[in-house]
Amino acid sequence: MSNWIDDRFPATKVWEEHFSKYFAPKNFNFWYYFGGIAVVVLVLQILTGIFLTMHYKPDAQLAFASVEHIMRDVPGGWFIRYMHSTGASLFFVVVYMHMFRGLLYGSFKGPRELVWIIGMVIFVALMAEAFMGYLLPWGNMSYWGAQVIISLFGAIPIIGDGLSEWIRGDFVVSDATLNRFFAFHVILLPLLLALLVYLHIVALHKVGSNNPDGIDVKKHKDENGKPLDAIPFHPYYTVKDMFGLSVFFMLFFGIVFFVPEFGGWFLEKDNFTPANILQTPPDIVPLWYFTPFYSILRAVTWEWLPGGAKLWGVLAMGLSLAMLFLLPWLDRAKVRSIRYRGYMYKTALTIFVIAFVILGYLGTKHPAHIDLFIFENVIWAQVCMVLYFLFFLLMPWYTSRDTSKAEPDRVTG
Ligand code: HEM
Repeated sequence: MSNWIDDRFPATKVWEEHFSKYFAPKNFNFWYYFGGIAVVVLVLQILTGIFLTMHYKPDAQLAFASVEHIMRDVPGGWFIRYMHSTGASLFFVVVYMHMFRGLLYGSFKGPRELVWIIGMVIFVALMAEAFMGYLLPWGNMSYWGAQVIISLFGAIPIIGDGLSEWIRGDFVVSDATLNRFFAFHVILLPLLLALLVYLHIVALHKVGSNNPDGIDVKKHKDENGKPLDAIPFHPYYTVKDMFGLSVFFMLFFGIVFFVPEFGGWFLEKDNFTPANILQTPPDIVPLWYFTPFYSILRAVTWEWLPGGAKLWGVLAMGLSLAMLFLLPWLDRAKVRSIRYRGYMYKTALTIFVIAFVILGYLGTKHPAHIDLFIFENVIWAQVCMVLYFLFFLLMPWYTSRDTSKAEPDRVTG
């Protein structure tokens, strides 16, 4: 049977190349669970999404009620919907952990630049996917969130207003917007994400995985040419990943069954009232995974800037993402892993993470309030924004001056 297929389709070849004879470093740790988990979550989002689509109505008159219908009348509908909404937030938790691993172990450095760049394109596509999905329940926060974000395009000189009108398909967010967001959320972006993830893994398997020591595991081979510091992905990592997935699913279903709204972090209170064009929610706040970037957008309040503060806020937000794309070329260190880097990168990364988390927190608060200490939130957001950018802009300097330790010859476990 397998011969019959193999004569017509490279099934065994693919299996061996990517699983049973794909050699992965033997020292993968906690941080290496998240890529595999992200693949599973993507599949889960697509599957639960298909079932939601069977009962959801992409029509401004019907959308909100159709979601309530799914929650109350469709057998198991609540379960599918909570899996999808919890999956969306946990997708970002997983992807942020996955990206942080890259920063820890220098996974973005050569020869994995393309793996990183494709990863960043995935990240932007994932943000677009989540943003458009959020409009679909047609709650009041869905509506106003979309209104605010789309109007940002209006800050672009000359073409801005026309562009945001073109995106909405109307002068305000309306049925036309809902329909196109539905098409993008259900068809275009999932297709794109699946394709990008495929490319991400093809690129990774071309160069091979990095590891917590950041060294080349193919350097030492036995007499049969097998790398001494690597093990076949199957069965070793398929089994290990199953453990990671089990823990993940315990957490996932714990949330789905016991705290699906997660205190307003996964499903916002203001989204349980239908969209109302005449009533803006008191604070328009995106879901938590957007708030670090949203904070950067709002931190630019200097109206004296040419073109106005809004334009520069949008630019700053765009630049904050662009910086991540440039990482492989900003880092000049000779070693990859944080284990062998000097104190400068370690300090810079710590400050960066703290600034990013504070930005995230402030993005959920009103800019004029005082939620940290002494100063208004917007002042702290400005400080953290500067720290965020300094991490990248000073990187060529501090990574080339940093005193790295000698890397080991073989992986250390
Ligand atoms: C849907 C989202 C994503 C999926 C499904 C995904 C999947 C994967 C998988 C399965 C691996 C190999 C296993 C592992 O190393 O954990 C991997 C590695 C990697 N991913 Fe992703 N990824 C995603 C998003 C991203 C993002 C947003 C970035 C960064 C911008 C990124 C950067 C990387 C890098 C640099 C590696 C190689 C890491 C190393 O070898 O140390 N990925 N990804």
